[in-house]
Amino acid sequence: ETVVVLSGGLSHERDVSLRSGRRVALALRSRGIEVVESDVDSSLVPLLASLPGAVVFPVLHGEAGEDGALREVLSLLGVPFVGSIGSACRIAFDKAIATTVVAEAGIATPTQVALPHEIFRELGAQTLMASLADQIGFPMMVKPSRGGSALGASKVNGPDELPSAMVGAYAYGSVAVIEEFVAGTEVTVTVADRGDGPAALPAVEIRPESGVYDYTSRYTAGATRFLCPAEIEESVAQACAELALTVHDVLGLRDLSRTDLIITPDGRPTFLEVNVAPGMTETSAVPLAVEAGGWSLGRMCADLVRVAAR
Ligand code: DAL
Ligand code: MG
Repeated sequence: ETVVVLSGGLSHERDVSLRSGRRVALALRSRGIEVVESDVDSSLVPLLASLPGAVVFPVLHGEAGEDGALREVLSLLGVPFVGSIGSACRIAFDKAIATTVVAEAGIATPTQVALPHEIFRELGAQTLMASLADQIGFPMMVKPSRGGSALGASKVNGPDELPSAMVGAYAYGSVAVIEEFVAGTEVTVTVADRGDGPAALPAVEIRPESGVYDYTSRYTAGATRFLCPAEIEESVAQACAELALTVHDVLGLRDLSRTDLIITPDGRPTFLEVNVAPGMTETSAVPLAVEAGGWSLGRMCADLVRVAAR
């Protein structure tokens, strides 16, 4: 059985995806699985046609990877793949939509406003600033609604920082989300299904040396301390696991997801976002969680392929 690991793609997280894909390919090969690594371009469909029975493992981050488009093509071609189906990804990848769905399920989420660029231009920055300061308050987070790896995301401490943050977010997409900054302990929980239903792996606590988990903190070796298991009480860890499993469930996700959350000082987890193709690099949380959960990354990836193939 051959596995086609897809990485690269035309998103802002292309480099991250290439690193994640390389790691997944090595992990699968360590289990004796034959792997073909491929970028996403016009050679993909002929490649898949030449490998009947192959399973695809998409390790594509960002737009055109996590937004579900490619997975819909795979479904259309009848090619089995690891991970969530396209329609679920489309909802999960869009922070504004995912947050709404997750909040409806009773999960704590930050107060959030989604602002399309046309409306931002029409109403004018001044009017909007006043309204956002009123609805959300400072500090606030501004992010592209569809993005990843904290690209285009910024913490805004006061009104004078808001315009440049909005420009930063719109550089990555036409809708920005502006949300309440939730202070607390940052943790991330991986949910994986080895064939016996979704299970939460131990929470990974994220402590960036700079205090901000931005692109540099994410992908520079040593820039962030990861604690796995997280230094949190057992009951809080349980609540985090339950939150991640509920998110996986209400968004209709499959096989693998990673939910990022903040534990507020009163011990309550708040949902930040979910990733349908979480990072698998040397500095990413999922491989750490897998090892802390008593698996090897190779075994987990092999299990996910086996589940996708059946
Ligand atoms: N978007 C990156 C890859 C992550 O969430 O890990
Ligand atoms: Mg993300």
